[in-house]
Amino acid sequence: MFKTVEWKDGAVRLIDQTRLPKEVLYVDCRDVETVAQGIKELWVRGAPAIGITAAYGIALAAQKIKAISFDNFYQELMPSCDLLAGSRPTAVNLFWAIDRMKQTAITHRELSIPSLKQTLLREADRILSEDIAMNRAIGKFGAALILPDSGILTHCNAGALATGGYGTALGVIRSAWEENKQIRVYADETRPVLQGARLTVWELVQEKIPVTLITDSMAGFFMKQGKIQYCVVGSDRIAANGDIANKIGTYSVAILAREHRIPFYVAAPMSTIDFKMPSGEEIPIEERHASEVTHIRGKEITAPEATIANPAFDVTPASYITAIITDKGVFKPEEIKDLDPGSSDHPGK
Ligand code: MRU
Repeated sequence: MFKTVEWKDGAVRLIDQTRLPKEVLYVDCRDVETVAQGIKELWVRGAPAIGITAAYGIALAAQKIKAISFDNFYQELMPSCDLLAGSRPTAVNLFWAIDRMKQTAITHRELSIPSLKQTLLREADRILSEDIAMNRAIGKFGAALILPDSGILTHCNAGALATGGYGTALGVIRSAWEENKQIRVYADETRPVLQGARLTVWELVQEKIPVTLITDSMAGFFMKQGKIQYCVVGSDRIAANGDIANKIGTYSVAILAREHRIPFYVAAPMSTIDFKMPSGEEIPIEERHASEVTHIRGKEITAPEATIANPAFDVTPASYITAIITDKGVFKPEEIKDLDPGSSDHPGK
């Protein structure tokens, strides 16, 4: 099994996902600038995976700091945190991981600088291993919702490549398959960057999980034919009211699912919930370079004069979501706000 992100020989090692499925190429990022470039240019992508990568990026930056007092150390670490925070705007896991690393430094301010550097690295390791454990839990909760002999449509890639391992939406699918449920996955190709065609299909064929690749515009056709019993997607940010941001095209899938009375599930770890974001309306949507739309694998497909729009994500309103599958259980979108540790309805209060 491949590792999407890992700490290896003093570097942050990533699979360059832009090369998949043609080539499995590992890149060793030896400075924080290269880590930020990797996130921006989609060598690594998927909300949990970019959070983990940023955590290692901070640990990497920390190793190089020469300061001997905590205050100077922390001050010198901040530009690296800011650089990583500026790499992509939509996935909240990125900001969640950066905040957690900053908090770890502050909590351990009494340590010697060499010990503090080690502590930051161990924290990034913990973010990675916790993510895999959360995905396993999501998988178990989600698989319980899936009946055998079903077709499951997924959009984009919310698999091992988008996380520390196992995946969120693909975690549900993997878990159902491990429980011997006969399923067939319908993978939307996911234009413009083709995460479905290039990454989701690649992951599933390796594990021999039956998968049919379809273009985004075919989803309604297969729903109408009765081939799809569930939609399961990941998320980049879940707002307190249960609205979710995910890869562009997710909203269209949700509307089609509603029309065909197909359950629409969102699978995501707690680190994807942004309790400070009241609704999906306020989630910042990344606009990516026009060339992703004007070109397919380096080939121009439109008139050079064309005006281009390229929002990378859209927001699916809570009303279209059957349930949100988290590592803490399965919740209706309107129950999400109660999971906030600060809420009076939180199960721990
Ligand atoms: O632009 P990307 O490839 O980073 O977008 C990824 C997605 O939209 C995923 O569905 C989402 O991050 C969830 S990954 C578990």
